[in-house]
Amino acid sequence: MRVVRTIAQLRAELSGCPPVALVPTMGNLHDGHLSLVRLARQHAGAVVASIFVNRLQFLPHEDFAEYPRTFERDCELLAATGCDIVFAPTEAEIYPEPQDYKVAPPPALADILEGVVRPGFFTGVCTVVLKLFNLVQPATAIFGKKDYQQRLVVHKMVRQLALPIEIIAAETVREETGLARSSRNSYLSDAQHVEAARLHVVLQEAVDEIRAGSREWAALERRALVALSAHGWRPDYVAVRKRADLSVPCADAPLVILAAAKLGRTRLIDNIEI
Ligand code: PAF
Repeated sequence: MRVVRTIAQLRAELSGCPPVALVPTMGNLHDGHLSLVRLARQHAGAVVASIFVNRLQFLPHEDFAEYPRTFERDCELLAATGCDIVFAPTEAEIYPEPQDYKVAPPPALADILEGVVRPGFFTGVCTVVLKLFNLVQPATAIFGKKDYQQRLVVHKMVRQLALPIEIIAAETVREETGLARSSRNSYLSDAQHVEAARLHVVLQEAVDEIRAGSREWAALERRALVALSAHGWRPDYVAVRKRADLSVPCADAPLVILAAAKLGRTRLIDNIEI
């Protein structure tokens, strides 16, 4: 596995390379990321993982500075999982001048749910992802379903801008308790880690009710919010939405239930397709 830091090195490594599958990450890798790398392996001749903590997608009060940088360990894990190239640029390499040109995804998709609590987040994500796509020119890119809205926003960007890239959605990897693997789980204390499993449990209970025939979205969402709050969580949202565009369900359509909530200082998100 080669580790490249500059765009020039990346281009040199990629020339003559078989079709690439890209796994974009911000590092602090866990089993969820490694499952993306394994999936990438099945879809392309070469796997590139990027590690870049993208300042553009953090609000001023968020955890950009303290976001765990675990580069050596990340590289060991990637090498052991069959990654060919790690692209780990500096900020100056990706943003050599202020990034005035940005990709603004449509408000109907980007200013709801995560976009309400994290305004500008998806503009930051789309801008860096488009830049990574331009640099790596992958045939395929893998995004985890845990970040459900992110995957959808990127998928639609690729479609509407006619980028020649197949976006593959990877299933969420969970701990035995059901807790979705996330880089931010490392912020949790031991006691919080145990409690964190409740997010998935509460979503699963709502899913069970929907599968049993309930269509009272508002009541279901309210019950889930109350169940979280009763155990010390500060929920941002629990929402039943259409999978296709995250709009409020009006007729029978494939659904997803999504949630975001803070436990102590740690903000966790999760979702289940119904
Ligand atoms: O999901 C992430 O880790 C980030 O949002 C991504 C896609 C790497 C863009 O910075």
